Amino acid sequence: MIIVKTLQDLTRTLRRFRDKNQTIGFVPTMGALHQGHISLVEKARLDCDICVVSIFVNPTQFNNPEDFKKYPTSIESDLDLLEETGCHLLFLPDVAEIYPVSDNSEKYELGYLETILEGEYRPGHFQGVCQVVDKLLAAVEPDDLFLGSKDYQQCMVIKKLTELKSHPAKLHFCPTVRENDGLAMSSRNRRLNSNQRDKAAHIYKILSFIRDNIKPGYIDDYKLRGKQLLEENGFKVDYVEIAKAENLEIMHEWDGKTELVILIAAYLDDIRLIDNMKV
Ligand code: PAF
Repeated sequence: MIIVKTLQDLTRTLRRFRDKNQTIGFVPTMGALHQGHISLVEKARLDCDICVVSIFVNPTQFNNPEDFKKYPTSIESDLDLLEETGCHLLFLPDVAEIYPVSDNSEKYELGYLETILEGEYRPGHFQGVCQVVDKLLAAVEPDDLFLGSKDYQQCMVIKKLTELKSHPAKLHFCPTVRENDGLAMSSRNRRLNSNQRDKAAHIYKILSFIRDNIKPGYIDDYKLRGKQLLEENGFKVDYVEIAKAENLEIMHEWDGKTELVILIAAYLDDIRLIDNMKV
């Protein structure tokens, strides 16, 4: 695996692949890699000639500085995992490389998507995601971009970004990888102690409960019940929402046909977990 730390080296290395007409698949990450990330790398390897991964803990997407400070890192094991999975090129920049002093951050017109759910509870978060993903896409110019569906709203935001900035990459929203008890794999899970880890699986149970019980008609009661169950199990809840899967329009009534997505964000102490499930 080739490791580059500067945009200049990245461009130079990518040119070698492009000169041979090799297709580039890209997996952006913030490190602390787990099987969810690895499934994206594997898919990129299958679909493209070259798999490029970035590891960069992007400061501008953390609306809470404490969350940024505590974000897990495990660069040694990340390198081993990527090597084992057959990643060809790792981009490992530092903050100055991505955000030089002269940088003027642009504002992305994300509209409705930024006003709901994560956008509402984490102000500025998606602007930060767009800043870094825009720079990474401009640098890597991938043919294909691989993202995990656990961050459902992020997938939609990045889709919007690629439209706004005419990034031509083909988008792949890949299935969430789960632990045996259903907990969605996430770098933040590493911060859970064993008691919190046991409780965390309730998110999956409650998503499944709503999916299995929801009936056409008025659906807000399912959100309330989900919130109640989470609180009974020690969570502080940001939201339990049900939205149209296609565009995240918040739904209060359901015709029994429209595809829905149930979305949860909740804290166990200071650790914020998110997950979602389609109906
Ligand atoms: O999902 C993530 O890990 C990050 O939000 C991303 C897409 C790598 C941007 O920093």
